[in-house]
Amino acid sequence: YERQDQRLPKQRLLVVANRLPVSAVRQGKDSWQLEISVGGLVSALLGLKEFDARWIGWAGVNVPDEIGQEALTKALAEKKCIPVFLDEDTVHQYYNGYCNNIIWPLFHYLGLPQEDRLSTTRSFQSQFDAYKKANQMFADVVHEHYEEGDVVWCHDYHLMFLPKCLKEKNSNIKVGWFLHTPFPSSEIHRMLPSRRDLLESVLAADLVGFHTYDYARHFVSACTRILGLEGTPEGVENQGKLTRVAAFPIGIDSDRFIRALELPQVQDHIKELKERFAGRKVMLGVDRLDMIKGIPQKILAFEEFLEENPEWRDKVVLLQIAVPTRTDVPEYQKLSSQVHEIVGRINGRFGTLTAVPIHHLDRSLDFHALCALYAVTGAAQSLGAGALLVNPWNIAEVAASISQALNMPADEREKMHQHNFMHVTTHTSQEWAATFVSELNDTIIEAQLRTRQ
Ligand code: G6P
Repeated sequence: YERQDQRLPKQRLLVVANRLPVSAVRQGKDSWQLEISVGGLVSALLGLKEFDARWIGWAGVNVPDEIGQEALTKALAEKKCIPVFLDEDTVHQYYNGYCNNIIWPLFHYLGLPQEDRLSTTRSFQSQFDAYKKANQMFADVVHEHYEEGDVVWCHDYHLMFLPKCLKEKNSNIKVGWFLHTPFPSSEIHRMLPSRRDLLESVLAADLVGFHTYDYARHFVSACTRILGLEGTPEGVENQGKLTRVAAFPIGIDSDRFIRALELPQVQDHIKELKERFAGRKVMLGVDRLDMIKGIPQKILAFEEFLEENPEWRDKVVLLQIAVPTRTDVPEYQKLSSQVHEIVGRINGRFGTLTAVPIHHLDRSLDFHALCALYAVTGAAQSLGAGALLVNPWNIAEVAASISQALNMPADEREKMHQHNFMHVTTHTSQEWAATFVSELNDTIIEAQLRTRQ
């Protein structure tokens, strides 16, 4: 994607997401260190180069004092970021509670928290109130920084209430909302006590986007079944207003990776890794330590593979980077102990004095180290013809796929890699953002035309 006329000013965009692309760490009364945040959303949105974008969100830290808030606002302004200051209780109820303990597992088909259903139901109302309050705080910051003609792009399940808050105050704002998780079948969505409010609020947006056509379809069915509205091929109709609903498959900034490969420090890293793991195949997993990533399932499948294929025991290593996330949520604490226990057991079982089969890292790596790792392993993607797709709940099937991948002839691997490479370098984050915003612009023009008619 290229702007047709490079002399045109870039379009102004207010990106609103729960987390800013940088997280703040306090160094002193009025000094802050900014670190790149982790997660798919941040990686995708770092590719918004074709827009004059400002980012509104939470800096991941509680800043109760004015001096700290002022200093942080100033430091973030240099990165074109605008903070929303959330107090500790709001973070607890809105982020840990409603977002990550209720919506996130439900949208990934894990249901409501198991051991705690009744108390979840009881605490539900206060968490939902905090959710609405937090969304209103984001809206207030957007209104403060909005200039006529700006497009506001809201992101993810944290901010489903935001389109409504924005439109209530100014119905002329162009609002898009994109979900970075699956949207579940309406049968699952209907388990949420606030199922109506969330859908109605999202429908206040002009354009609603999902990763896949299936998620978009689930959303439209939820609106027809739960709200009784009419679904059309373009989206959902609500009292004469059409909210456009569509799929926008996301990507990465592939150029950034390709350019990094030429840097001497990355080449050094690659050399080092090749020496360290000489004679062994390297399998790589890079994930946030989240239950939906299937990390324990993957490790158990690797154990089964080692069990069944003793000839591979000293010829393969699994490197798993598991970046800690949402560490205040009990489900994530449980997962962390579970993964450590399994890794310890497998390394104890199959390790030797000089080598262990699993290297598990509880932290993120810097971008260059990550590029080097991707370069020595290649990255697995759900890319149809270019990938071996597995059902992560079927440990035997995953173990068989590990064996198939490790034994695959080089020319076949090369062919599959080419397929993936083509896909990743053509379906980039720039392309994704450009398509979404251009469709959002069109939608508004259509809406204005309708009003004029
Ligand atoms: C997923 C979500 C993002 C979120 C990221 C990191 O990708 O869709 O919205 O930013 O996880 O999660 P965290 O809770 O650490 O911000």
